Order: sequence, then structure tokens, then C-alpha cells
Amino acid sequence: MYTVVFKNNQHSLKTIPGIRPGTSLLELALSQDIDLTSLCGGNGTCKCCIVNIEQGGEFIAPPTLEFTTSPGEPVFACQSLLSGNSSGTIVVNIDIAQI
Ligand code: FES
Repeated sequence: MYTVVFKNNQHSLKTIPGIRPGTSLLELALSQDIDLTSLCGGNGTCKCCIVNIEQGGEFIAPPTLEFTTSPGEPVFACQSLLSGNSSGTIVVNIDIAQI
């Protein structure tokens, strides 16, 4: 189980504990009323849901090598799934997302 912290402008917006692997960051954000834009419905084509992973990138499984989870590197929230059988905290900065 993971804890995901969404933040912007250096402020924590929401901390969500108990998240299971397989959940995408977009799915999780929308379920918490964090209104990331997703014009393509999560297909990875509109580039609206781009966020930065500030911490815990090792717990995110990008679907292709096109995506990265290095700290501070942008990822598509819809294509970034929590993965593994571990536990930890993922900090997601949504400053660059279209909201
Ligand atoms: S929702 Fe369109 S790229 Fe993620």
C-alpha cells in the first residue's frame, strides 16, 4: 500500500493513504476531486495530465521507455501506475498540469 501526496505551489493539496498497486495517478487524482484535465480519457495522447514526481518514482511503473520516473521529470498521470508489492510515499507535483 502506498501513500500519495498531491501538491502544487509547494503546498500539499491532499494526502491519500492506502492506495493499491495498479491505480493510475490520474485515476487517483480525479477520485479525490483534484481536477486534472484528461481530454483523451487517459489514453496518453492529449498531454494534458502531465505532472512531476518529486518523490517515490521507484513505485511508479511507466508503460513504456518513453516515460520516465526520475525525480523532477514530467510524466503523464494517466500512464503512471503504482506498482510492486512495497509500501512508501509518492509525492506528485501538479504545477505543470492543465487544470
Ligand atoms: S489524460 Fe490525456 S495524456 Fe493523460
